Amino acid sequence: MIYTTLVAILKVIDNNVGKIGMPKILVIDDEEELREFVSMSLELNDYDTIQAENGIDALEKLEQEEFDCIVSDVEMPQMTGPEFLKAFRQKNTIIPVIMLTGVKNLHTVIEVMKLGAQDYLVKPINVDELLISVEKSIEFKRLKEENIKLLKENKKYQKHLEEMVERRTFQLKDAIFGSLIIIASAIEARDPYTKGHSNRVRLISHDIGICMNLNAKDLNTLDYGAMMHDVGKIGVSDNILHKNKSLTEDEFDQIMSHPLIGANIVEGITFFEPMIDCIKYHHERFDGKGYPGELKGLDIPLFARIIAIADTYDAITTTRPYRTAMTSNEAIDIMVAGRGTQFDPDILDVFIRNKIYEKDYIFKDRDINESINPSRIVLDDEKIFELFNKPKSFTDSDIYG
Ligand SMILES: [Fe+2]
Repeated sequence: MIYTTLVAILKVIDNNVGKIGMPKILVIDDEEELREFVSMSLELNDYDTIQAENGIDALEKLEQEEFDCIVSDVEMPQMTGPEFLKAFRQKNTIIPVIMLTGVKNLHTVIEVMKLGAQDYLVKPINVDELLISVEKSIEFKRLKEENIKLLKENKKYQKHLEEMVERRTFQLKDAIFGSLIIIASAIEARDPYTKGHSNRVRLISHDIGICMNLNAKDLNTLDYGAMMHDVGKIGVSDNILHKNKSLTEDEFDQIMSHPLIGANIVEGITFFEPMIDCIKYHHERFDGKGYPGELKGLDIPLFARIIAIADTYDAITTTRPYRTAMTSNEAIDIMVAGRGTQFDPDILDVFIRNKIYEKDYIFKDRDINESINPSRIVLDDEKIFELFNKPKSFTDSDIYG
């Protein structure tokens, strides 16, 4: 009765108050009198209110309108306050909910706070307490929203930064790769027979790496390493590189020193550190009879085992001073004969099974090799191996690749 009288008075006053820009409160209570009282108390204090008779009604209204705060009774038919709160919190964790509870329902306070209530008030409602609680709850919501906005802005800024770093990294990689091409080209310019060799070795190695599911970082290292694998040939004299006659033992040793020369050149340069293994060990053999370290099997770094296959295939299928280019089939026959001795059998299987040797790019830049007249075919591999006591299973790519 007291509530009814008070509400009547409050309604008259409220009709004269504008509501634009006021915080909007959803008042949920099955008792109309109490609902009206709470609403009017709030409206008199510059809040706009909408009323709901129960939890289900409230959820519908929350679908249709934006609210700044919810004041809800605990005990209601159809859907209790805690049930409403649980359902609502699954959709919205921002709008604060103040629960109104009777003294006999105080045990539910812990439950509703756990479910995400912002505050609770004990009936009979004290208007001052209600206003303080609503004001604090709305301020809390504002801070929460501001925090979310800042987090979003921060994420946006972070994404922007990441994009910038990615762009710059790409530009840097591009520049580095350009430099590597220049270095490789400078090496190859000394010997027209090997023009494009480093790039083809890179492309073949890259495809093997993809078939072996290497990650992007490893593929990158493999690319650079393959491109640079013969950098040590800078330290081998032109006379030896171009020689079409049998090599002396000293000359032979000089050629075979190029992996170590290459590794020494790049050693100490941070950027090249991950590629040193590619340069140093690309002439190792799976049976341990390679050079310079005579490493065996899986002791040979993975990228070097991959490059060894790409290097050999390209060396066999291009014209060299001492012989014409062999066909793909001939090359594969030779390489299969070296499965498990010269080459890592699993990686060779990947190379052959995926028919990487049939890729177009391998044949693209070989014009110059095809135009060379291989009249200087004088180097007899068998003779060399006998002369210098090298393993007979060495192929020419062991030495010249
Ligand atoms: Fe080499």
